[in-house]
Amino acid sequence: MSSKRLPGQPHIAYRGDELFLEEASLNALAQQFGTPLFVYSKAAMMAALAAYQRGFAGRKVQICYAMKANSTLGVIQLFAQEGCGFDVVSLGELTRVLAAGGQASRIIFSGVGKTRAEMRAALQAGIGCFNVESEAELEVLNEVALSLGRQAPVSIRVNPNVDPQTHPYISTGLKGNKFGIAHERVVQTYQRADALPGLRIEGIDCHIGSQIIQEAPYLDAMDRMLDLVQAIEAAGVPIHHIDLGGGLGIDYNGETPPEADQLWAKLLAKLDARGFGQRALMIEPGRSLVGNAGVCLTEVLYLKPGEQKNFCIVDAAMNDLPRPAMYQAYQQIVPVKPRSAPEETWEVVGPICESGDWLGHDRNLAVQQGDLLAVLSAGAYCMSMASNYNTRNRAAEVLVEGGHAHLIRERESYADQMRLERLPLAATIAR
Ligand code: LLP
Repeated sequence: MSSKRLPGQPHIAYRGDELFLEEASLNALAQQFGTPLFVYSKAAMMAALAAYQRGFAGRKVQICYAMKANSTLGVIQLFAQEGCGFDVVSLGELTRVLAAGGQASRIIFSGVGKTRAEMRAALQAGIGCFNVESEAELEVLNEVALSLGRQAPVSIRVNPNVDPQTHPYISTGLKGNKFGIAHERVVQTYQRADALPGLRIEGIDCHIGSQIIQEAPYLDAMDRMLDLVQAIEAAGVPIHHIDLGGGLGIDYNGETPPEADQLWAKLLAKLDARGFGQRALMIEPGRSLVGNAGVCLTEVLYLKPGEQKNFCIVDAAMNDLPRPAMYQAYQQIVPVKPRSAPEETWEVVGPICESGDWLGHDRNLAVQQGDLLAVLSAGAYCMSMASNYNTRNRAAEVLVEGGHAHLIRERESYADQMRLERLPLAATIAR
């Protein structure tokens, strides 16, 4: 049978006239589980992780999967089994890691707005490190730790003021962003942290943005981090690990981000050249571990050709795939069973009642009502950002391992959605 791979998608291929993810027919999965349906390839996630592992061979490094990219338990479990740690940004995420069998000691807790309750729970769980984002947060963490009779392990997130050249909403390491501590205040902040009895300084970290497809911002960030480590240590505070954050981009539409191992070869060469080769490292990749491992299957509900635009109305929407509406993001959309008819140009849109609900503009497709389409690169920041807008149930998720499919999340039901709501009038009548 002929097999045609899709660019940037090594685990997805047409075999004969059907699209497969690993050894699984996407058409068969859509028939079995319904649509919209997220389908992930375990092999693709493991291959993405392996690229980082190869890059770090022989080094002291902890890879902490930034689970905000995809926080489904079945996905977390895979990375936990491979020995990964996790970058979490809420007690909810921490709870998921523990529920999926991840180790608390390998959790790092990032985010600008940790609450006291979250700090307390994370300390009690015994997490590996807090990535502290402000001077005010340091003081509060110190108080919370002392109230529990503990010391909180901390790393201070610095804002290296590097332009990652990505979408402004996902650029985080520039002076005008809310993240991290300004370069100029870093040394004094470490000195203050060192003086607080409830804190134990572990490391330094930064995260400059997401969907970064160039090497230069990483190399710049590493240089600035190493300058800071030198200055902090010269001021008498030892730094045990350096965490360079996440952010490596993926190929959505022909982008050519560096491979993780190639990027790290250059970063490690820089570390070695500057005498930091033995320092423990951490990274927090999210998108690059899961993004191109997933697709979202959707059925064409109606075709609505028009004078100005042709609309292809599908059963997935901005509540399932929010990235186009939020960031004007591009995700490839391909037929699950291609037709030999001529292509036409379509606006691929969902059923939600606003014009922002689009999945793809001006897509050339040969489609008919009832066809299945696959939205590619849907493993990261899709399900984890999904909502119930328009009271739509969130989709089901399937993990493919070779030819075997594991249902890792059932399709939500309307009862699930309404479970926490109460009717005030009914309560009044009942009295
Ligand atoms: N570490 C920290 C502290 C972060 O804030 C993030 C992502 C990561 C690691 C992981 O970055 P990644 O390797 O996935 O690029 N919803 C947006 C992306 C937001 C990223 C926020 N921070 C999108 O769909 O493009």
